[in-house]
Amino acid sequence: MYQTINGMKDILPDEIHRWHYLEETIRRVFTRYHYKEVRTPILERTDLFKRGVGETTDIVEKEMYTFNDRNGKSLSLRPEGTASAVRAYIQGKLYSNDHVCKLFYNGEMYRHERPQKGRLRAFHQVGVEYFGATSYLCDVEMMMMIETLLKELGINGYHFYLNTIGCAHCRPTYKDALVAYFTPKEKALCPNCQRRIKTNPLRILDCKFKGCQEQAADAPIITDHLCKACDTHHHHLVDMLDQVGVHYCIDPKIVRGLDYYERTTFEVRIEGELLGTQNTILGGGRYNGLVKQLGGPATEAIGFAMGLERIMFLLEHLEAQSSLDYVVIPLGETVLPQAFKLLEQLRSMGASVDFDPRLKSLKSQMRWANKQGAKKVIIIGEEEFKKGVYIEKDMATSTQKEIPFT
Ligand code: HAM
Repeated sequence: MYQTINGMKDILPDEIHRWHYLEETIRRVFTRYHYKEVRTPILERTDLFKRGVGETTDIVEKEMYTFNDRNGKSLSLRPEGTASAVRAYIQGKLYSNDHVCKLFYNGEMYRHERPQKGRLRAFHQVGVEYFGATSYLCDVEMMMMIETLLKELGINGYHFYLNTIGCAHCRPTYKDALVAYFTPKEKALCPNCQRRIKTNPLRILDCKFKGCQEQAADAPIITDHLCKACDTHHHHLVDMLDQVGVHYCIDPKIVRGLDYYERTTFEVRIEGELLGTQNTILGGGRYNGLVKQLGGPATEAIGFAMGLERIMFLLEHLEAQSSLDYVVIPLGETVLPQAFKLLEQLRSMGASVDFDPRLKSLKSQMRWANKQGAKKVIIIGEEEFKKGVYIEKDMATSTQKEIPFT
């Protein structure tokens, strides 16, 4: 029997309504902020990602699905959406219509990573790319939109981590400072980070290995090395976030795993055990040089992408959490007033309670309660009513007891 490829999943009909709800909510929010949808092919020339995402990134070095087509051209399944969006922006001359262009996309991305909970090889991202984002106000607006989006999805318990990684002018001196700091500690670093000292020392800061994290604890921080322009941008941004009431934590370790970023970088993580180690639900930042680097006009830009499987996991959890406390089952006309009094009594105590208005048989009402995810049912039958009791049944354990009316 054929199976899906390791790290790839079908979305079956009984899950699809959740996906529609999620995608529609996201689309509604993005549209309110004047983003327009773009759809790009999932296959691109490998070179686009090499130049766009960066030759020394994990994605390009180890994770892309790359092959030659029948003409011997190297193609890759897209590992992320930004490089393709930039290509479409340049190729479609979207810059010629207006100075500002706000795009969003929703699609499957492919990375040959080690599959685990929340980490797949084929996964869905929605992302936005704001071209012509010349002001720090664009960063502010994007962060406000993210807050709105998460609120509308009912997601809380997250932290917004913010950083700046400088620009082509100031980052080289910061890199030098990191190399000078990490070189004497080289032996205590993981093999990957030993290599990164030469290739990409910033990435040592967000390495997951405990040894590397210990060594990085006192590493130089970027904010001590920013040039005037980057420093001003960062300060304006955090000042405005404070003034408009967006909550964030500054984290100098948010360096991101893609090469195109400069200045603002950010990630949103869910606190607690729910998502395990794969708890980053979205990430992004500024990439002021990428459009020019890929052959377009100099255009400042900022964007982010969100992993939909991780969001879906949270929504399922929320749904399970918010299941009904009680379903009240009245059996016969005479008990209806008592059933309604009980419904209100339980609700006034803060419980979430419902009943099946079709008032069919006990079996049918039990089935309905089960379908709604009720934790308990309360059955009020005419016999019990005469005795002044009702029956409370626990749906998980199937145990039941008689409880007197109060
Ligand atoms: P990224 O941090 O590589 O950024 O991915 C963004 C989000 O996609 C992650 O925070 C995570 O939720 C989800 N994700 C990434 N890899 C996987 C995986 N293997 N399985 C499941 N979910 C995953 C980018 O891709 C940038 N293009 C974001 C961006 C847009 N920056 C500027 N504009």
